[in-house]
Amino acid sequence: MSSAVKRIGVLTSGGDAPGMNAAVRAVVRTALNRGVECIGIRRGWSGLINSDFVPMTSSSVSHIIDKGGTILYTARSQEFLDREGRARAIATCKLLGLDGIVAIGGDGTFRGALALSRQVAEGGQKLSVVGVPATIDNDIGCSNYTIGFDTACNTAIQCIDKLRDTMQSHERCSVVEVMGRHAGFLALYVGLAVGATAVLIPERELDFQRDVVEKIRRARLTGTTHFMIVVAEGVGSGVEIGERIHEEVGIDPRVTVLGHIQRGGSPTARDRETASRMGYEAVQVLVEGKGNRIIGTQEGRIVDMDMEEALAMEKHLEMHRYEVLEALTTSV
Ligand code: F6P
Repeated sequence: MSSAVKRIGVLTSGGDAPGMNAAVRAVVRTALNRGVECIGIRRGWSGLINSDFVPMTSSSVSHIIDKGGTILYTARSQEFLDREGRARAIATCKLLGLDGIVAIGGDGTFRGALALSRQVAEGGQKLSVVGVPATIDNDIGCSNYTIGFDTACNTAIQCIDKLRDTMQSHERCSVVEVMGRHAGFLALYVGLAVGATAVLIPERELDFQRDVVEKIRRARLTGTTHFMIVVAEGVGSGVEIGERIHEEVGIDPRVTVLGHIQRGGSPTARDRETASRMGYEAVQVLVEGKGNRIIGTQEGRIVDMDMEEALAMEKHLEMHRYEVLEALTTSV
């Protein structure tokens, strides 16, 4: 089948996530396999505004499937939020003769994709935009899973396991702040996986006595002499939580902010495999001329959805996981 799509661009935008490179590789290799040229746009949407691009070949994506970060670099573009910025981006697409763009990133990237697709439609141009979800926050409404989440969970778990060794030896309390400005997926999954004493997430209103003080007390009463409190950054700073524990329980916690370490590292099997399938599907959608779409996972399958509809969807943290956590930490 010969496709009307001759040349596409691929970019990564927003906070990076392990597996973005695997997705870029899949996009480039699938495009070439379908006889479509692929141009790498560097530094996200700002690269499209500033004509910052690099033609991609099969070898430009060799040996990157195992690498964290993104070879295309990433950025958050203020300029792209304005019509004038997007008009310059559209001009770049016209200049390069792009028929489609694959944008790999999180919520901000997708909002940019939607604004671009609307502006393109108003101008009557032909350019399809397809989004591939990649963020360690796992907070994209239309997709059960986002590239990078599994690796970030495993990185945090490895760090906390190490912390536990020393906390146990010194019989201390550890407060670990993990990423998640608006979403507690990372904190809750990690908390469950390390057997945390308490997990604080933005989705649940904090009652310090119930959620922290009582949990530490109960653990102590059952014989535990070290405590692990996992805090999503959206709840507040780990340092503040630590100070409050000191005031209200009288122990002296050690606070660790895992920070950007969670965004790096070689992607896990799940992230490489998902990124490969999503990147493949993104190009497939463009070649089939389906228009503006978002790729996602639903019940393990890779699906594509209309962009407007997909971005109106919401995803809520299953609070059942919180109940499991509570059952496992408070019923001893
Ligand atoms: O990628 C999402 C995220 O990891 C959030 O959880 C976090 O708040 C944010 O990025 C921090 O990113 P940056 O420091 O790059 O602005």
